[in-house]
Amino acid sequence: MSDVSKKTIQDFWTRNVPGWDVFSKKYSPEDKRFYLEADAHRYRYDDYIPALIDSFAAAGLSVLEIGCGLGTDSRTIAAKGCSVTSLDLSPSNVSFTMKGMKLFGLKGRGVCADAEKLPFKDASFDLVYSFGVLHHTPNTRAAIREIQRVLRPKGRCVVMLYHKGYAYYLLLLRYGWQMLLRRLSSEKLMSRYDSTPLSKLYSKKEIRSLFDGFDRLDFQMTTYGGAQLHPVFKFAYRILRKSRFLMQRFGSFIIIRGSK
Ligand SMILES: C[S@@+](CC[C@H](N)C(=O)[O-])C[C@H]1O[C@@H](n2cnc3c(N)ncnc32)[C@H](O)[C@@H]1O
Repeated sequence: MSDVSKKTIQDFWTRNVPGWDVFSKKYSPEDKRFYLEADAHRYRYDDYIPALIDSFAAAGLSVLEIGCGLGTDSRTIAAKGCSVTSLDLSPSNVSFTMKGMKLFGLKGRGVCADAEKLPFKDASFDLVYSFGVLHHTPNTRAAIREIQRVLRPKGRCVVMLYHKGYAYYLLLLRYGWQMLLRRLSSEKLMSRYDSTPLSKLYSKKEIRSLFDGFDRLDFQMTTYGGAQLHPVFKFAYRILRKSRFLMQRFGSFIIIRGSK
């Protein structure tokens, strides 16, 4: 377990609102166009997310999103008729999400809390969704245990974590000597590379162990969206996305679907 404090993580994500760097911010967060722009950018970069949400969101489902950020996915899930609870460690991210919900005429509940200590009773939700969050929290295992606890019997989770894919091999190539000589962990290196207080990478074996309380596990490999890449890297990115063989080994994101 990492020794980075929750306060450091909370302050970081409050100062660095997820997705903030990629859209113009021409509009104020009081304006619906602010969220329209944020959402358009998110789904241009990570264009597979709408299909991912389509694959589980059904009217009447009660869904908890952990680490909602600006709330794009919470809004998309709510628009499908789910009853959504959007949780984040950063109070301002919860406010953005709720403001966006209201401007779009959607209903939702916002909760500022820690994924490692969810403030809900056992068996409260049909589905827990979390995208790109639990590798940033010190005790990922505790957060996954909490997901299992708050899910109803036969409930499902859809969780994206960083995978030991190409980013990991690039880190090994570039900084492997520091890992050996200065005993720097891959966690320290990944956090530096990702410019966050804490970013962790997981192998499939480690993920199986983290989710060992779930009955069925399915993995879907994907990678960073290509829209923001330099044309040279875009070519490599297209090859990676087209090849199942390469994606299985080198994909940088792993989407985990688990059933209780
Ligand atoms: C990389 S952002 C992802 C946001 C959103 N899911 C997305 O994909 O745009 C990580 C988010 O997780 C939240 N977060 C980090 N640690 C958390 C924790 N222990 N409990 C709840 N939220 C947490 C941060 O505040 C931040 O909003």
